[in-house]
Amino acid sequence: GRAMDLVSASATPQALGLLLLFFLVALHLAASSSGAEKLRSKLPSPPFKLPVIGHLHLVGSLPHVSLRDLARKHGPDVMLLRLGAVPTLVVSSPRAAKAVLRTHDHLFASRPHSAVGDILSNGSTNVALAPYGDYWRRTKKLVTTHLLAARKVRSNRAAREQEVRLVLARLRAAAADTARTAVDVSELFIYFANDVVCQAVLGRLPREAGRNQMFRELLEIHCKLLGGFNLPDYFPILARLDMVTAKAVKLKRRWDDVLDDLIDKHASKMANDDEEEDFIDVLLSVQQEYSLTRDNIKAILVDMFEAGTDTTYIALDYAMAELMRKPQAMAKLQAEVRGCATKGKEMVTEDDLGSMSYLKAAMREAMRLHPSGPLMIPHLSVADCGVEGHTIPSGTRVIINVWAIGRDAASWKDAEEFVPERFMEEAMDATCDLQGNDFRFLPFGSGRRMCPGISFAAVTFEIILANLVYHFNWELPEGSSSVDMTEEFGFDVHRKERLLLVPRVPHHL
Ligand code: HEM
Ligand SMILES: *[C@@H]1O[C@H](CO)[C@@H](O)[C@H](O)[C@H]1NC(C)=O
Repeated sequence: GRAMDLVSASATPQALGLLLLFFLVALHLAASSSGAEKLRSKLPSPPFKLPVIGHLHLVGSLPHVSLRDLARKHGPDVMLLRLGAVPTLVVSSPRAAKAVLRTHDHLFASRPHSAVGDILSNGSTNVALAPYGDYWRRTKKLVTTHLLAARKVRSNRAAREQEVRLVLARLRAAAADTARTAVDVSELFIYFANDVVCQAVLGRLPREAGRNQMFRELLEIHCKLLGGFNLPDYFPILARLDMVTAKAVKLKRRWDDVLDDLIDKHASKMANDDEEEDFIDVLLSVQQEYSLTRDNIKAILVDMFEAGTDTTYIALDYAMAELMRKPQAMAKLQAEVRGCATKGKEMVTEDDLGSMSYLKAAMREAMRLHPSGPLMIPHLSVADCGVEGHTIPSGTRVIINVWAIGRDAASWKDAEEFVPERFMEEAMDATCDLQGNDFRFLPFGSGRRMCPGISFAAVTFEIILANLVYHFNWELPEGSSSVDMTEEFGFDVHRKERLLLVPRVPHHL
C-alpha cells in the first residue's frame, strides 16, 4: 500500500521530509525505553528491522500472505513486528488464537486507536472500533438485540426475499437474451448485499427513492479510506499531516448530510407511524435509555454498512467462483437445492433453507479459504498477559491471521482445496460452526469482539445463493476457460477481477 510506496519511492523532497520526521520520532522513542519495551524485546520477531519503519517493508501488497510466510519462519504461534511506531503481535496458530480470543479474551478485547476511524465514526463511537468498555458493551448489546439477533433477522425476511425477486427478474431477462451476454455476478452480489443491509437498517425510504446507490458510493470511498495499512495508524504523529485525514473529514460531511436527513424524516413520522419499524426507528426510540447522541446514532448506522456489506458480498463472490471451478460441487449443490424446494416454485424461500446441509457446508468451506476479513479487525491488549510462554505487554496491537489459520496444513487435509464435504462429516458439522468454537476456523472471529452479524450474514448468503443455483445453470462466457482468483487487499481481501457468468434456464424448470 501507501506505506510501501513511501519506502520504495524515489526520493522526492516530500518523502525525504517525512523520513527526516520519522527519524526524529524514532530517536525520541528509543530514548524512552520502558518496561513494556523490555518485554517486547523477548518476543520472537523477524530480523531485517529497519530504523523508523521497522518491519513495514516486509509487509507486501497481500499482507495476509506475507505475514503467514514470515510467521512460518519467525514465530508460528506469535510473532512481534514493528510496523512503523507500532508494536504489532501477529497470531497465526489455533492455539495462540484460543489464548487471545478465549482464555484471555477480556485482556485482548480492545481496539487500537485509528485516526481515520475516529473522524469517520465521531471518536470511534460505533461498535467495531470502540475501545473495550461500557460504551462498547452497551452499543454491541443494542445492535445485537435490536437488529442482528436471529429473531430480528427473521422479521426482515419479506424484505430480503423481495430483493431476491428483483435479482431473479434481472437474471431471467439476461438468460432470455439469445446473445448469451454475461452477467457481472460480482456487481450483482455487491448491490444485493448493499440493498439488503440498506433495507434492514434504513427502512424502505431510501430504497424506494433509489438512494441505495448513493450509500454504495459513500461506502466505497469509506472502505478505501479505512482500508489496508494506513500510514497515520503506524505513524500516529503524522495523522494531522496526512491527506487521508482531509478526505475523511470531507466524506464524514457527506454521511452527515444523508443521515441527518433520514433521521429527521424518521423522527417526524414517529408520532403517527403504522409502518414497519426499521433500525433508525429503534435507535431513536432507545436513544434516551442508552444515552446516545445523534452523532453516536450516525456512527452506529454507518458501522452496519461498513461491517455488513462488503463482507457479505465477498463471501458470496468467492463461493460462486469456487463452485464454478469445481463443477462436481456445483452439481451436488444444485441437486440438493432442487431436491429440497418444490418444483416449479417461484423461488426458494427461507423456509426451504433449513434442510440444505450441502449449501451450509459450501458456505463454511468458502469462508475457510476466503475469510472476508483475513486479518479480522486489530485487537489491542489492555494488560500484560502470558500467551504460549511469552509475556505480551499491555498496549500491544494484535492481528489474528485467520486466513493463515484456515489454510494450515497441520489442521486441514488438502488445505488449499475447496471441499465442502469436509464440513458434512459428523464431528466437524457439530463443532466447527460459524460461532468461533473451533479455533481452526474463525471467519467471524470468536469471543467478546466476535461478529454480531452471523445470523444476518448467513441467511443473506444462503437465500441468494440457493436461488441462483436453483433457477439457473451457470457457464463461463465464450472464450474464457477459468475464473481468475487473483486477490486484492484493501479494507478486506476480495477477488480482483469481476466474476462474469452466463445464466441459462435449465429445461426441467
Ligand atoms: C460474511 C459476512 C461477515 C463476515 C465474514 C464478518 C466477519 C467479522 C469479523 C472477522 C469481525 C471481527 C472480529 C474480531 O475483531 O474479533 C467482525 C466484526 C463485526 N461485524 Fe461482522 N462479518 C460479516 C457480516 C456482518 C454483518 C452482516 C454485520 C451487521 C450488519 C456485521 C457487523 C459486525 C460488527 C458491528 C462488528 C464489530 C464487533 C465488535 O467490535 O465488537 N458483520 N465481523
Ligand atoms: C462528534 O460530533 C460533534 C458534533 O458534530 C462534534 O462537535 C465533535 O467534535 C465530534 N467528535 C469527534 C471526536 O469527531
